[in-house]
Amino acid sequence: MEIIRTVREMQRWALEEKRKGRFIGFVPTMGCLHEGHLSLVKLARSRSDLVVLSIFVNPIQFLPGEDFSRYPRPVERDESLCLESGVDVLFYPDSAQMYAPDHSVIIEETLLSRGLCGATRSGHFKGVTTVVAKLFNIVIPDVAVFGQKDAQQLRVIQRMIRDLNIPVEIIPGPIVREPDGLAMSSRNRYLTPAERQDALCLRRALDHVEKCIQEGERDVETLRKELAGVLDRVPAVRVEYIEFVDDETLQPVKRVERLVLVALAIRIGLTRLIDNTVLMTRQD
Ligand code: PAJ
Repeated sequence: MEIIRTVREMQRWALEEKRKGRFIGFVPTMGCLHEGHLSLVKLARSRSDLVVLSIFVNPIQFLPGEDFSRYPRPVERDESLCLESGVDVLFYPDSAQMYAPDHSVIIEETLLSRGLCGATRSGHFKGVTTVVAKLFNIVIPDVAVFGQKDAQQLRVIQRMIRDLNIPVEIIPGPIVREPDGLAMSSRNRYLTPAERQDALCLRRALDHVEKCIQEGERDVETLRKELAGVLDRVPAVRVEYIEFVDDETLQPVKRVERLVLVALAIRIGLTRLIDNTVLMTRQD
């Protein structure tokens, strides 16, 4: 495995491999890697000749007061996980490589990024779209894999690809969970053992809604109350949002017909956690 730390060298490598006709798969991350990230590496591998994984804790997608400075950076562990999982190139730039001191261009998606996480994390998604567009120009991938764990991020990136005609195919990766159902996340390590236990309410709430759907319930207000009831039973949990939105447009829906994304954001202590599922109803 090669570790590349400069933009120039990464671009040179990518252009050379492309000249040889190699197909490049890309997995952008902020590090502190877990099985969720590694599942994306496998997906990328299945669709390409060479896999590049980037680790960059992107300062411009964190809001003031968020966890940028304490975001976990287990460098050596991440490097060996990349090696073990068959990554060909680890792109590991520092901030000075990625942003000139007077950088002044941003890329902003203006519709899908407004609701859900965008409502409370204003400015977050333009940080994401800007860094992902930059990474695409640096790694020059044919395909890139993004997790369904960050459902809104995935859709915002797909919209950016469409609207800016970026020649990269986006492959969605399913959510990888711990055996007890908690969605894997680099931020799970902030949780105390008690909070870790409380966090299971996310999966419980989504399971409960899926059960209600199987039993025939379609009314979103009823489903929302059912879901909120599960979260409310855990005193340490503060609900940031419970949203039922159209899976494509991310606009709120009143009934569950076609594909509906149920997205949750909660806070437990100092930690913010998100989870989601896509509800599917049989057309009858
Ligand atoms: P990060 O949170 O490190 O996530 C990197 C990728 O891993 C994202 O596509 C995310 O959706 C995916 N992922 C995280 N947890 C997952 C899980 N449990 N199952 C499946 N996939 C999972 O998302 C970011 O970094 C950044 O915003 C980034 C896109 C790198 C831009 O800075």
